[in-house]
Amino acid sequence: MQQKNLDLVLQKVLQKIIPSAQEAGAVHSVIGDVLAETEKIIKPHGFSVVLAGSFTRNTWLSHKKEFDIFIQFPVETEREELEKKGLEIGKRIVKSFKGSHVVAYAEHPYVKSKINGYDVDIVPCYKVESAEKIKSAVDRTPFHNKYLSKNLHPHQSADVRLLKTFTKMNSLYGSDLKTQGFSGYLCELLIIKYDSFKNLISQASNWLPGQVFIDLEGKYNGNKKEFWGQSLAAIDPVDPKRNVAAALSPAVFVKFVKLCQNFLENPSEKFFFKREEKTKAAELLKNIKSRGTLFLGVKFSRQEVVDDIIYPQLRKTAKRLLDILKEYEFAVLGSAVHTDKKSCLIILELETWNLPNIRRITGPPVFAIKNSQEFVNKYKKLGRVWVEEDRWVAEVKRQFKEADKKLVDTLSESAKILKAKGIASYMADSIAKGFKVLDAKQLLKTADEELLETIRDYLEENV
Ligand code: CTP
Ligand code: MG
Repeated sequence: MQQKNLDLVLQKVLQKIIPSAQEAGAVHSVIGDVLAETEKIIKPHGFSVVLAGSFTRNTWLSHKKEFDIFIQFPVETEREELEKKGLEIGKRIVKSFKGSHVVAYAEHPYVKSKINGYDVDIVPCYKVESAEKIKSAVDRTPFHNKYLSKNLHPHQSADVRLLKTFTKMNSLYGSDLKTQGFSGYLCELLIIKYDSFKNLISQASNWLPGQVFIDLEGKYNGNKKEFWGQSLAAIDPVDPKRNVAAALSPAVFVKFVKLCQNFLENPSEKFFFKREEKTKAAELLKNIKSRGTLFLGVKFSRQEVVDDIIYPQLRKTAKRLLDILKEYEFAVLGSAVHTDKKSCLIILELETWNLPNIRRITGPPVFAIKNSQEFVNKYKKLGRVWVEEDRWVAEVKRQFKEADKKLVDTLSESAKILKAKGIASYMADSIAKGFKVLDAKQLLKTADEELLETIRDYLEENV
């Protein structure tokens, strides 16, 4: 019964997520035009062009209006030459479609464009002999294309789409540093390994962190030592040194396993679609109040830097602030980070935020004569000193009684000092220019839908 139900659910989901013939026709017509124009432009140079990723194998998700093309240069091309020519060619392509563009930066600068309503990245790369000889990460992609065209059976593209949707709708899709989840290529390899979405999730519902080793081409003979400490090891068949799942965090791994268990227990379409009801600020505030904790938000401006740099820096900074607060005896329950185009926010949840005027310090045993003298000399000036059992104890005035004051004190510094305190570099530069510490009410009052979701995700995090 359950089995039938599961099949029915997957069938219904597929009907909704497989792009219509009309949509596929429209996408492929734009891609075809761009590739043809590119061929024309690069022909005199003898370069080649490759379409990257999911469009080459029907694993793209409906409504996706972006694709990447890679211009392959001979390996002996100087880096500078590749970058200059790469941009030149990119701009020419965009111009012939009367599109718009900006230059963006990854391993090499590349053209990020808008052509006929699509976001098209035009990326230069090296045409290397094998994926083990790559000069930059993007050089691997043509080998992935080839491997998948051979090994991913056309009927499996539907299973890949199920897996991508399943992970995407539960915020587990993407190897970016915000998500730290499943990349498209990892989804494709998983489907090759387990044959179908259904079989994958039934296997994955028993996965344990660090125990799963996927080595499709048998390059390691089952020896997974090199990947110790990684949630999941999925060897890149075209470059065996690389773990395709390297970005997958333990938290996402655990959430995925749980999600598979939940889905098998109670198959439903809701696992594949975003929930409809909007998050309400008033409900979040009620929830926060019922916890009896204190929420503090540190808000500052965001510089024009990509998410993959911002998120790790935000997390590092949050961790540093938590450690500083703990040092001052403000117990911390957890934290969350958030960013939009203009601002960054670190949310801290505290168990303790008000402390008494005085603080207790435990000293050395009375039998340690020299240490005892030093202790008494130091603390006698500051307050009471006495002995409990065989140890000295002192009482001194507390410097910071309120957590928010300690935060303000810590952050009101120059960028240089903030960096020395362990605040990540872009964050330090922004905080030095100004920041605000907000309480839950203030946070929620001005929160947009995305921020409300971040707070809700934090409050509802539960495997
Ligand atoms: N790639 C990879 N590892 C990653 C991200 C990307 O190897 N962590 C390579 C793969 O060759 C992939 C290509 O870059 O096919 C394009 O990446 P991307 O567009 O991010 O993923 P797709 O597989 O195309 O999936 P999507 O449908 O989400 O675009
Ligand atoms: Mg893609």
